[in-house]
Amino acid sequence: MKVAIIGQGYVGLTIAASAAEYFDVVGFDSNPKIVDQLNLGLSHIEGVESALLKNRIKSGRYKATTEGSNLQDADLVVIAVPTPLTTDRKPDLTFIDAACKTIALNVFKPVLVINESTSFPGTVRNYIKPAIEKYSPKLIRHEYAISPERVDPGRTDFNQKNTPRLFAGLTPEASKKTREFYSKFCDNLVEVSSPEVAEAAKLFENTFRQVNIALVNEFAQISHALGISVYETLDAANTKPYGFMKFAPSAGVGGHCIPVDPTYLAAIAEEYGAPATFIRRANEVNLEMSEYIVRRVIADNGGNLRGKSVLVVGVAYKPNVADVRETAAELVIEHLRSQGAVVSWHDDVVGKWKGEDSAPLRGADIALVVTKHDSVSEKEILASAPYVFDTTGKVKTATGL
Ligand SMILES: NC(=O)c1ccc[n+]([C@@H]2O[C@H](COP(=O)([O-])OP(=O)(O)OC[C@H]3O[C@@H](n4cnc5c(N)ncnc54)[C@H](O)[C@@H]3O)[C@@H](O)[C@H]2O)c1
Repeated sequence: MKVAIIGQGYVGLTIAASAAEYFDVVGFDSNPKIVDQLNLGLSHIEGVESALLKNRIKSGRYKATTEGSNLQDADLVVIAVPTPLTTDRKPDLTFIDAACKTIALNVFKPVLVINESTSFPGTVRNYIKPAIEKYSPKLIRHEYAISPERVDPGRTDFNQKNTPRLFAGLTPEASKKTREFYSKFCDNLVEVSSPEVAEAAKLFENTFRQVNIALVNEFAQISHALGISVYETLDAANTKPYGFMKFAPSAGVGGHCIPVDPTYLAAIAEEYGAPATFIRRANEVNLEMSEYIVRRVIADNGGNLRGKSVLVVGVAYKPNVADVRETAAELVIEHLRSQGAVVSWHDDVVGKWKGEDSAPLRGADIALVVTKHDSVSEKEILASAPYVFDTTGKVKTATGL
């Protein structure tokens, strides 16, 4: 069986690397730089080792391409392209639309199309299928399914193989084929009754996290106002063996999923006239954290930051990955600069970001920790400035949330 995977980023390359153990895989990506690198066996994704990729290439089981015509012999096509928000924070399906066009213009026999991109309920049925049919020169009866991706970049305890995978086809035949495909490299497949349930479950999982993170971020502000430690209070609450789940306060949420997916759910809810006030507010609370943190730093530093050198430590959206998408560090830096601070950042995992290089971890007036990678020690952070504000709870003796 030949498998084509559209989009060779975090999700697409991870699937490609697993699937290529059993199938011939073509990784299609519109970015020629990524494709060239991949064909040299160089992975740009945490969790996919270059050695594994080289192995797959050597065995003839994997190649990357920018050429749509290479999708021609595929029996199964996976869509794994970005689903971001537009500038006015609405679901942006332009990448999915482009992927549909690629399929329509290059796949001329019936195949199984599986969507792994995160989107709102109804995307496979009401958007992907009609789009492919609209762009196809003639009607081809493809099968359609959804299997939302749950990969957590950088995580080692749960991976592609042992994370339960939801799926559903538009038809029983599509469901059957989807199960056959994933069962080769996933241990636990969970079929649900419709694509809409699978799509909604994925959005709700991340909305659950966003809302709970917003709640704990609000609670951090309440704890500070009350003069008690948020961390000690959370540890105390966490001694309850049931009905409580601990979330950690932070500078906000980042990455491609948690700041984005809940907005997809809110948008479809509002389109159907259902309330999404809680989801909308959670997003606002998380976005407002950066401003709150900067206010705390100002209050501790004589009421203004003008001319002070502030080193933001860790700009990746979470520890031990180089991913800066939607990172809370961006808003923190923006607020610091708007207060006249001279801001640089240190993050050797990220290295280069927005045309700036990671600065040395020393010599600042103020250090503000947004993300703490394992490679940076508490001692180094504490020595980098006379005042350190930590949003991670990991620099124990610093001022914190
Ligand atoms: N990153 C995660 O942890 C994660 C987890 C679960 C679900 N998802 C979802 O999976 C989807 C993909 O996310 P990702 O993190 O892999 O994105 P990514 O940005 O890492 O990769 C997407 C790739 O698609 C390519 N691309 C864009 N448009 C294309 C097109 N028309 N044709 C071919 N290639 C195209 C880009 O060049 C890029 O390499 C999104 O819907 C995301 O929400 C991501």
